[in-house]
Amino acid sequence: MVICLILNCIKILAEYIMESAKEERTFIMVKPDGVQRGLVGKIIKRFEQKGFKLIGLKFTWPSDDLLSKHYADLANRPFFPTLIKYMSSGPVVAMVWEGLNSVKMGRFMLGATDPKDSNPGTIRGDLCIQVGRNIIHGSDSVESAKKEIALWFSDKELVQWTSNNDLWVYEK
Ligand code: RTP
Ligand code: MG
Repeated sequence: MVICLILNCIKILAEYIMESAKEERTFIMVKPDGVQRGLVGKIIKRFEQKGFKLIGLKFTWPSDDLLSKHYADLANRPFFPTLIKYMSSGPVVAMVWEGLNSVKMGRFMLGATDPKDSNPGTIRGDLCIQVGRNIIHGSDSVESAKKEIALWFSDKELVQWTSNNDLWVYEK
């Protein structure tokens, strides 16, 4: 009887952990070159087809101030001024995608930072050539994702919804 109760509790806890894991969020942004080259639809399609759920979407021309905060950890790198100039050269599409391991899988889907090292089949591997025009950003950790999402979106701009797809994307 007691063992059954404990096993039941463990099962409920495991289910709760799994449900929370499915709510992992990542911040994805189509950079100005991706927008100019008409790649927005293609990039969104890849995340939709993978099975991730769109939670937030914004078309915006970011300020130098916002971009400096976004790339604050690179402020001491020699390419920082060029990066800010590139990223502020036109509008971007900022997005929040949700799903199990969305941060890690998102980075796989993007490919390596420098397209010359990105595998074919990845977004950068298939769609761009140079590191300074690598068309897309993706959070590199769950912690960065939380910071980036809070920087680009207010809570009100993030939409909580149930996707019928989830019944078929996930086991059980
Ligand atoms: P991102 O943040 O944009 O998703 O890119 P990442 O994590 O793959 O790479 P990160 O080291 O965070 O660099 C941010 C962006 O800076 C530009 N970059 N240029 N000239 C260079 O050597 C150089 N290195 C990086 C790229 O646009 C890179 O995505
Ligand atoms: Mg980065």
